[in-house]
Formats: sequence, C-alpha cells, structure tokens
Amino acid sequence: MKKILITGASGLLGKALKTLFKSKYDIIPTSKNYDKYQKNYFLDITNPILIRDIVSATSPDIIINLAALTNVDLCEERPDLAFSVNFAGLQNIVEIFNGPIIQLSTDYVFDGKAGQYNENSSVNPINVYGRTKLEAEIFLKENSKDSLIIRTNVLYDYVSESPASFLNWVVKSLQDDKKINVVDDQWNNPTWTKSIAIAIDKAIKFELNGLIHWGDNDYVSRYDFAIKIAETFQLNKKLIKPIKTAELNQIAPRPLKGGLNMDRAKNILNLEPSNISDCLKYIWENVNA
Ligand SMILES: NC(=O)c1ccc[n+]([C@@H]2O[C@H](COP(=O)([O-])OP(=O)(O)OC[C@H]3O[C@@H](n4cnc5c(N)ncnc54)[C@H](OP(=O)(O)O)[C@@H]3O)[C@@H](O)[C@H]2O)c1
Repeated sequence: MKKILITGASGLLGKALKTLFKSKYDIIPTSKNYDKYQKNYFLDITNPILIRDIVSATSPDIIINLAALTNVDLCEERPDLAFSVNFAGLQNIVEIFNGPIIQLSTDYVFDGKAGQYNENSSVNPINVYGRTKLEAEIFLKENSKDSLIIRTNVLYDYVSESPASFLNWVVKSLQDDKKINVVDDQWNNPTWTKSIAIAIDKAIKFELNGLIHWGDNDYVSRYDFAIKIAETFQLNKKLIKPIKTAELNQIAPRPLKGGLNMDRAKNILNLEPSNISDCLKYIWENVNA
C-alpha cells in the first residue's frame, strides 16, 4: 500500500481526500492547526525543520500538497505571507523530499479573458494568489520531474464547519431567508471535492507527472451555480440577486472568464467529469439521509 503524506488536510479538499483515501492508501494527514476531531499530524510547511522531521519519521512514497493561503483578498493584502505559504512552502517540500509531489493549483494562473483554458494556454495571473501559485508550479516543474500539477477551480462540498465553502454559504443564507448577491460575470467549472479526489486517485494509479486540468463538466457563472444549488436544495432562488464583480470592490482583482478545459486529462485518466446537477443531488440526498 502506498504511503501518502497530505499537507493542508484540514481544508475543503483535504477532508474529501481523507475520506476517499483512508481505505486505499496508508495516509499521513497533516495540518497547521491541531484539531482533535480530525486527527491530523501537525505540519506548517513554512517550517523546513518540521517537514524534515515528518518526512524522515514517516518515509512517504508521495506528498500531496494542499496547504495554501486560499483567501484571495488576504493574499493581496499580505503578499509576503502568501508567497511564504504558496511558493516557499512548496519549495521547502521539494528541497527535502525526493519523491513525487502532487501540487494542487488553480485557474487563477490565467487572466480570465478567454476561458476555458487548456494546459497549453498562456498564463498571466492578475492577482497575488495566482502569482504565488504560478511561481510554485514553475519551481516544481523545474526541480521535480516526477511530480504532477493539477489545476482545478471553484471547489465545493457541504462541510458545515468550513468558512471557505460557497455551497454552505448559499444554503445557510437561503435557509435563513437572507437575500444574497452573487456575481454573474465570473465563469468557471465548479468542482465537487469528491470529483477531484477521484481524479487525484487515478493520477496516482497511473503515476502521472507533468500538468493536467481537472474540474467538473458544466461551465457556469457563479450566479447560475447558486441558482442550481437553490433548486436542488429546494430553497427560494428569488433571494439570489445577480451582481457584477466590479460592484463588490474586492481587494484582489478576479479573473472573469476563467475555467478549465479537461479534454487532455479525460483521455489520460480515462475519466468523465461529473455534472453539477448529479453532484448536488447526491450531496443533498446525503445531507437529508
Ligand atoms: N478552493 C478552491 O476553490 C480551489 C480552487 C483551485 C485550486 N485550489 C487549490 O487546492 C488546494 C486545496 O484547496 P482547499 O479548498 O482545500 O483550501 P482550504 O480549504 O483553504 O485549505 C487549505 C489548507 O491549507 C492549510 N494551510 C495554510 N497555511 C498553511 C501552512 N503554512 N502550513 C500547512 N498548512 C497550511 C490550511 O490550514 P489552516 O486552515 O489551519 O490555515 C488549510 O487546511 C490549494 O492548494 C488551493 O490553492 C483550491
């Protein structure tokens, strides 16, 4: 059984990976903040001593690096912090660990003028988060030839304690009869964390390296996605108001027409991306089970 160390395992994707991987692999989940319920080992990837200790104590076959500062506005406000986690953190791992690394990256490496993007599209990040993730990609490509970069976008799952979950925010707001504003000019392929976990599992089996794009099938605006959530969860969609990104006056600029083309990965992984409606229905049925 392969031994897989996961960084950032307390995050949205980390939870899905732990669930899918626990019976398939010998996993070593790690996170920066200790949580007695999640039973992760402590690891802050900005500290090379801690990485060295856990790598020599556990000798993993693969490291999946999910650890990241994903708050896009915070990255813009604190570029030093963003670079230390998203870039230098990965650099630390590469310098200590000789085996393959799976690095999660983002469609924010593109400027959002002409999505959906494939693996050959030109990168041009427009915010600090995108720049830090791109720098990490470049470093990994140049220094670890067995490693794999998987770009994904707009991850979601129903995880009650996760502030990062768009799905939870929409459901909770509508359940509380609260009006919400959702942008109708940001386009991506929202991706259920279980879908990307399955793609990562296949990539491990195929010992893939290089770069692939993976997301779910439908290319929708964030507003359309929120409407689909309301419909599936049988909530009042009239509470959702479309607005433009510019009206939000956010600190970091956002790519608008982002999203990913998965044609190459579909062939390599022999996998079909899921549809949003199927994923949401499955989640809704399980929330109500
Ligand atoms: N979410 C998306 O829509 C999306 C889209 C494209 C790509 N991605 C990429 O996919 C990966 C997983 O994303 P996610 O949605 O699971 O993110 P998430 O929920 O924000 O989780 C990120 C994790 O990284 C941890 N972390 C932050 N700083 C760290 C450090 N110095 N050392 C170790 N761990 C640290 C966080 O721990 P604390 O909470 O304790 O700080 C958290 O557990 C990331 O690489 C992200 O860039 C995400």
